[in-house]
Amino acid sequence: MRRRDLVFYLPVAAAGGFFLWFGVRTYNLRFRPRPEALEPQWKEGPRVEVARLGELPLWGAKPFRYPLPQGELSAFLLRLPEPAPGGLSLGEEHYIAFSRICTHQACTLNYVPDPEAASLLYNFRYERPFLGCPCHFGAFDPLLGGKAVYGPPRYPLPRLRLEAQGEALYATGHEVPLRPMEGL
Ligand code: FES
Repeated sequence: MRRRDLVFYLPVAAAGGFFLWFGVRTYNLRFRPRPEALEPQWKEGPRVEVARLGELPLWGAKPFRYPLPQGELSAFLLRLPEPAPGGLSLGEEHYIAFSRICTHQACTLNYVPDPEAASLLYNFRYERPFLGCPCHFGAFDPLLGGKAVYGPPRYPLPRLRLEAQGEALYATGHEVPLRPMEGL
């Protein structure tokens, strides 16, 4: 190949590579199917009080820490407007608890109560509050049991088992596998 040809072909190859990368990325972010969060399989764990009943408003979230042999797990308790897979319903009150560790690369998730305000940052418009990752802007839907709905994460968030006793809510175990630490 002549040097003059290289001047032509190199930029064409670079542009082709860019568009290929961009297409794969767009497909992964927007269209690639992600696994549903089905009914969880629980592993028994310590019993930890996480809230009083009625303490959280609708769509309220409360962070807590759950002790595990490998260290404390950062988690969220949420009160939802309707039942969700793996959650706990007590009459008209519906709760669910999640690990806050992103199933992509283990960053700590935030609760995003106002999806409209966050839509610019995430480049993602959603119809209800979600759990968002500040590292690569992944998003998980609490009403779908923590299913990954946007960004690089593929797997749903592990849930924590909830039980009610008296006026208190307790976390009493966690879902297996506990991604991303286990089961990739
Ligand atoms: S670590 Fe959460 S999206 Fe990458």
